[in-house]
Amino acid sequence: MPVTPERFIAGMRLHAAGVTVVASEFEGRRAGLTATAVCSVSAEPPQLLVCVHRAAEANPIIRASRCFSVNLLAAHQRRLADRFAGRLGHGGAERFAEGRWVRLVTGAPVLEGARAVFDCILVESLEAGTHTIFLGSVEAVLTDPALEPLVYHEGEYGLVAQLPL
Ligand SMILES: Cc1cc2nc3c(=O)[nH]c(=O)nc-3n(C[C@H](O)[C@H](O)[C@H](O)COP(=O)(O)O)c2cc1C
Repeated sequence: MPVTPERFIAGMRLHAAGVTVVASEFEGRRAGLTATAVCSVSAEPPQLLVCVHRAAEANPIIRASRCFSVNLLAAHQRRLADRFAGRLGHGGAERFAEGRWVRLVTGAPVLEGARAVFDCILVESLEAGTHTIFLGSVEAVLTDPALEPLVYHEGEYGLVAQLPL
């Protein structure tokens, strides 16, 4: 029996995932989106992938600049997640008016104060249904493990709770 989009989404809603903002810049044009479809690919060499909707503003910017950052959000940055998901009515460069955005190695904007930052060069892209899978070579990493992680699950933001031993 074919799986309907609704059924697929019902399953994926049960995947508790860390929340990131994926950001890029080309010729002074910045674009970014909130994304949970982020995955570690390889440690040697360090590579990760992100799945970005073809219609997202950041999609052509990533293709053109051939670089992007993945900014893993902390719990206190939940409003940034809404902002970069377009839920507060901001688009394009406007989204970057909140937070301190700097450059590391590739030239992609990276969020100072994120829980982790991965600064990537685009090595490959693959069209997959409505999305593009961007494979990135990780050129720089920043971490701040003291910050609480922000998680998305069943359409709500949440925190991570430790299981008792
Ligand atoms: C928690 C959360 C996770 C999301 N994950 C993704 C994702 O992995 N890939 C994606 O393309 N869009 C994802 N979205 C949707 C985009 O953030 C949203 O559609 C954004 O507005 C796209 O940018 P645009 O306004 O430039 O099209 C997610 C949204 C939320 C709230």
